[in-house]
Amino acid sequence: MSSNNTNFASLFHSYKSVFKNANQDDENQEFGEIVFSSNYIPSTLHHREEEMKSLVNYFRSIITNPTASSRKVVLYGPVGTGKTLISRAFGHDMSEYIKKEHQAGNPIFRYFHVNCRKTKTPHLILTTALRELVPGFPLRGFGVDELLRMFTLLLFEQNLVVLLVLDEIDYLIADERNDFLYQLSRIEECPPVIQNSRYSNYSGSKTEARFNLLTITRDPNFRHYLDESTVSSLGRNIIFFPPYTRNQLFDIISSRAEQGLREECFDDELIEVIASLAEEYGDARFAIELLWRAAKLADKGTADRITPEHVRKAVVSVLPLEKSVIEELSQHQKILLLSIAKLLNEHDRPVVTTPEIKEYYIQVCEESSIRPRRPTQVWAYLKDLSRLGLIQQEVENRHNTNTGRSLGRVTSIRIRDIPVKEIISSLNHLIEK
Ligand SMILES: Nc1ncnc2c1ncn2[C@@H]1O[C@H](COP(=O)(O)OP(=O)(O)O)[C@@H](O)[C@H]1O
Ligand SMILES: [Mg+2]
Repeated sequence: MSSNNTNFASLFHSYKSVFKNANQDDENQEFGEIVFSSNYIPSTLHHREEEMKSLVNYFRSIITNPTASSRKVVLYGPVGTGKTLISRAFGHDMSEYIKKEHQAGNPIFRYFHVNCRKTKTPHLILTTALRELVPGFPLRGFGVDELLRMFTLLLFEQNLVVLLVLDEIDYLIADERNDFLYQLSRIEECPPVIQNSRYSNYSGSKTEARFNLLTITRDPNFRHYLDESTVSSLGRNIIFFPPYTRNQLFDIISSRAEQGLREECFDDELIEVIASLAEEYGDARFAIELLWRAAKLADKGTADRITPEHVRKAVVSVLPLEKSVIEELSQHQKILLLSIAKLLNEHDRPVVTTPEIKEYYIQVCEESSIRPRRPTQVWAYLKDLSRLGLIQQEVENRHNTNTGRSLGRVTSIRIRDIPVKEIISSLNHLIEK
């Protein structure tokens, strides 16, 4: 039995979600909470006309002269600047365009988008692509060199022109990544011949280029890890994705809100609040997630509108950098990051030096009865953390202030974007697991 104001049916009907499509009487089934998910492709892309134009220009000869040369482009920019979205939209639109214009005898265009955070090795990247071209292609049994040759051979055999997008390339292990990029950058020079196979007499025309590469990185120093010949081949065509400005963020989240939320649940003022909070990072993912979480909080509190207060509460749960970046670190990378965060916190300074970190790292390891790694390895982990954008390293020439004598070069390290205390609490939790 229930009194009138706790009656299930009346509560059920009196309450409405702020999301479109979550209520019985919503008409538009296409939108709703789904527009806030990370793989949703919005129908309007805001403020990336220049970048899209550059992509079209760099790759236009795939259409006008498909096998004349191999095009290689690098996209780089911080997290949440639309690199994945724009490259996906580009790959998709180009495929559609070519399909429509296709004439008999033209090469067939294939576009592969690989996220290296999920597909973590060159071996897996190549097998995944090969399995799309040859159903049932074995997952094991071939080395990277062989896979590359088979891939090249298939391009000729199946009369293909391929665009491979390697997204989040920063996640491949450094050595493997550099070798792989080197190999890919010279793929046309690699004759499509496989020893001991029925193709051993095949002599493909080396002058045909059927492979095109789009590499996506968030590392501003990506050129430094490539050797010279790879740089000269990969590093010339670069498109930079700058952080979004406040007004640009406003437009992006405003149209997301229109698609996902009921009209009467938000207004421009709310969107303004979110845009100004996200402005510091210029990160659209952050802004979208903030709006989504604020909407969830409004729903949870059965409020009929999303308010700036919901946004302020939501901020706490949204890290400016993907949480997954931290979650996916190895145990020792986590310990190292934790050491840096704790040091910064204890000393209340903006930067700490490498020797301080190394000492503290050993201490943290000992406290958790974990054997510390060797200094060279720790050095490599530091490089990984900075490659992933978690820390920033600066080399400084220090001098004795009295004598003016040089004290040598000191590397100082700061943590980017995320409040130190937040890192400590999430890492403490992750390391305990
Ligand atoms: N120009 C844009 N217009 C609309 N949505 C955008 C735009 N740029 C980014 N987004 C959205 O912001 C989020 C992050 O974009 P993403 O492409 O993943 O960034 P990046 O790959 O640079 O980290 C995604 O949800 C994406 O749909
Ligand atoms: Mg991305």
